[in-house]
Amino acid sequence: MEKRIAVIPGDGIGPEVIGETLRVLDCATQNSGLKLAYTHYLAGGCAIDEKGCPLPDETLAGAKNSDAVLLGAVGGWKWDALPSDMRPENALLGLRAGLGLFANVRPALLYGELASACPLKPSLTEGGLDIVVIRELTGGLYFGKKERGETWAYDTMRYSDEEVRRIAHVAMKTAMGRKKQVVSVDKANILESSRLWRKVMTEVAGEYPEITLSHMYVDNAAMQLVRNPKQFDVIVTENMFGDILSDEAAMITGSIGMLPSASLGAGTLGMYEPVHGSAPDIAGQGIANPLATILSAAMMLRYSLGREDIAKNIENAVRKALENGARTKDIALADEKTISTSQMAEAVIGFLEV
Ligand code: IPM
Ligand code: MG
Repeated sequence: MEKRIAVIPGDGIGPEVIGETLRVLDCATQNSGLKLAYTHYLAGGCAIDEKGCPLPDETLAGAKNSDAVLLGAVGGWKWDALPSDMRPENALLGLRAGLGLFANVRPALLYGELASACPLKPSLTEGGLDIVVIRELTGGLYFGKKERGETWAYDTMRYSDEEVRRIAHVAMKTAMGRKKQVVSVDKANILESSRLWRKVMTEVAGEYPEITLSHMYVDNAAMQLVRNPKQFDVIVTENMFGDILSDEAAMITGSIGMLPSASLGAGTLGMYEPVHGSAPDIAGQGIANPLATILSAAMMLRYSLGREDIAKNIENAVRKALENGARTKDIALADEKTISTSQMAEAVIGFLEV
């Protein structure tokens, strides 16, 4: 079977980590009956340079017309001074909204081999960490009405019950396949949108009698994540809170260079990208960690392409590469030998079962 993949390398380290990920995918899918047909598109800063806008029409059309989108990263210093409608980040927002990807799934997994990279004291992470942040992705402050005057500005956090309901179902379904515990994070002591959020979360949880739902204010959640991260399994939260908490969750697992993400909608089309950004400071040096993107490709096989078997094969190979001591600079201890972006991909390829 052939599946169409829209590949959007983007800026900074994006093209490097995507290039290595495609090598891993090619190897993992050979003899699998699945053939991936890649079409490359521009988005972000490179699209501003070449086409005059961050998200060219053909990129959005190509993404819509694909079975899945694999994205590297967008943005960089070079485009920082541009007016707000010309920022590279707009490409991401346009893809999320344009493809209806309302659910962002960000698993934060602390691999035993990388425990020493975790900035928390070892007693807090003993036995490992395995948290999934489910972030609402197309509502809230990111997409609400906003305006800027000479001396004032505002953004609005608006949610409809339907927007909360659909992300609540994603969280409950995710939790059903895990520990059946959901922590919904909001600021219901202050925000009206959070009071609606809490009400709808509670209603939806009622449809899943096996699920234990609890609510936590976002400031407390930020504290609890570093005080006692093991209390969390599935966290569900609105767009901006999820942006912040997913970076925090990423860091406590050792390196943001390790974390994949999936952005999902109502159907099977999804967009897969590493949680890290374009890291212009290390771009072009061949030292970026490609594992977050490789693991994002595994999520793509699982959620959009229906190939759990190949997803697992890739995830196992990543684990074995780490067990075997493969370390890019970001996850290495001071005295450990480091390898390049492409050597890391080769290490993973070496452990694939094909
Ligand atoms: C993320 C990023 C984006 C976001 C930026 C680059 C627009 O931080 O995916 O978490 O804020 O959503
Ligand atoms: Mg972010």
